Amino acid sequence: MVTVDRCELRGMAQPLVVTVLFNRHLPGEHGLLRLRVGKVARQVQPGHFVQLICDPRLTLPRPFSVMDADPEQGSVDIFYRVVGEGTRIMASWKGGEELRVLMPLGRPFVWPEEKKNILLIAGGAGIAPVHFLARRLVERGQSAVLVWGIETEAPLMTIAARLDGFPLDVAFVESAEALAALDAVGVSSRLASMTPMAGRFHGYVTDLAEHYLERSSEALRRRTELYACGPTVMLRAVARLAERFGLSGQVSLEERMACGFGVCAACVVPVRQESGVGWSYRKICTEGPVFSLADIAWESG
Ligand SMILES: Cc1cc2nc3c(=O)[nH]c(=O)nc-3n(C[C@H](O)[C@H](O)[C@H](O)COP(=O)(O)OP(=O)(O)OC[C@H]3O[C@@H](n4cnc5c(N)ncnc54)[C@H](O)[C@@H]3O)c2cc1C
Ligand code: FES
Repeated sequence: MVTVDRCELRGMAQPLVVTVLFNRHLPGEHGLLRLRVGKVARQVQPGHFVQLICDPRLTLPRPFSVMDADPEQGSVDIFYRVVGEGTRIMASWKGGEELRVLMPLGRPFVWPEEKKNILLIAGGAGIAPVHFLARRLVERGQSAVLVWGIETEAPLMTIAARLDGFPLDVAFVESAEALAALDAVGVSSRLASMTPMAGRFHGYVTDLAEHYLERSSEALRRRTELYACGPTVMLRAVARLAERFGLSGQVSLEERMACGFGVCAACVVPVRQESGVGWSYRKICTEGPVFSLADIAWESG
């Protein structure tokens, strides 16, 4: 069994000792964790992830995308959903705890050209890297629109107005929490869920993205790129959208990891060969989690 201590022995970056600044419980068994990490916050880019060593009793660390980084305050935010032992331990933190964390890990999103219009698509806890990217894109003056599929009671937002280009029954998101920050900086955000809920698009988040693309002008559509994170089934649908509209894009893959530093091959994904014939496997933990949509051999799974 490969453990974090083996990882230290292999010469990787030593785990950082960080402090929990706060841990806010949110509806739908979600949580928002803020960690004081110091200067390393300056290196963190959208798409990077951290490996949290939740508890010495758990052999493996748990991977989480960074949802936001504040270089001034030296902090990073993690948005998590409680699904098992590690995340249950995370939910018990009250603030003030000291943890060990490996960060920043992985390859972040590649910045799009400035003239591109970015359509961000998130499913469930996949909002984390997408939210971070949205903030940074808008800080750079780039146009971005965000659609988020979330089945539970909205953990991060309240609902307000409408926006051109979306079906009329889909409300504009004015967040009380993290999405308020997006709203304030000018990212238009909409929600989708499979359970009918007031103000949300009823259906898959990719159906909502499709509505947006169908209603966009030809000129806007031509300069649109897709950036997505969520369950694999959603990312497959994003790949189909990209094919239908002739768009390029990037996805962050959040499949299961074990070691998280390239030795166990538990996290591989099929990637097309440059020759166009067949595919080979890449490790999500060291060569991802962000990949070009066109590089993944979606048909292989
Ligand atoms: C690069 C990366 C980034 C991630 N970012 C986030 C994030 O920002 N927020 C977040 O909530 N989660 C994220 N995840 C998923 C997160 O790592 C897992 O939910 C977590 O490790 C589960 O730990 P646990 O001990 O609570 O659950 P375990 O006891 O290990 O597992 C409990 C249940 O959760 C399921 N599960 C385990 N790992 C995953 C996974 N990767 N994806 C989906 N289900 C899983 C298991 O199949 C099982 O049913 C990310 C995963 C990766 C690989
Ligand atoms: S998780 Fe072990 S190689 Fe990626």
